[in-house]
Amino acid sequence: MIKVLYSDDGVVMLRPLTMADADAHLAGQDVEYVTWLDGADGTEATEKRRLADAEKAWEAGGPTFAFAIMSEGKLAGTITAEVGREDLHDNQADIVYGLYPDTRGRGIATRAVMLMVSFLDQVPGISEAVIRVSPANPRSRSVAERAGFEPLETEQTAGSEYEWLSSRVSLVPAEARG
Ligand SMILES: CC(C)(COP(=O)(O)OP(=O)(O)OC[C@H]1O[C@@H](n2cnc3c(N)ncnc32)[C@H](O)[C@@H]1OP(=O)(O)O)[C@@H](O)C(=O)NCCC(=O)NCCS
Repeated sequence: MIKVLYSDDGVVMLRPLTMADADAHLAGQDVEYVTWLDGADGTEATEKRRLADAEKAWEAGGPTFAFAIMSEGKLAGTITAEVGREDLHDNQADIVYGLYPDTRGRGIATRAVMLMVSFLDQVPGISEAVIRVSPANPRSRSVAERAGFEPLETEQTAGSEYEWLSSRVSLVPAEARG
């Protein structure tokens, strides 16, 4: 059961992404965000649908957990974790993130990933966070590395078009804790 929806490290706060973020999100996104963020195409209709889906998933308790990345009281970007994907093991959550251009270059994405990992610690059955980056997007790989993720080279990742990095979410599964 998800108990804590908000996380904050004093500089960056994550809170659930909702339809109320539509205007700021549409104004903030740029070509880079749209190019690299899975499922984004930059059109108002698609982006509003993504936000509506995000809101519904919060009500349903998954399988996606989409957060607004807040910095200095403003929407700086988005970060989403997805569990139960067919291309991942049951204990793995996939993380994708994007910042708007004026919030890049300040360590905000790295902080957001670290906050996401601590959020995932309370999701039952999830013990590993995975970030898959395109070899053509080294800035994204750097975020994962700064957040402490390490290359994942297993049977699962062999032959993938992406570079996989992973981080342990917790040593003790959520359901085994008191
Ligand atoms: C990928 C993306 C999120 C990276 O953003 P970013 O701002 O470079 O990442 P961070 O927030 O971790 O910031 C790191 C940068 O801030 C700098 N920085 C400044 N202060 C910092 C601090 N206190 N802590 C860490 N880094 C800091 C770092 O030196 C680094 O800059 P550099 O790359 O010029 O060396 C961004 O390029 C983006 O939104 N791209 C489009 C979407 C995308 O590619 N998503 C990935 C799909 S999974």
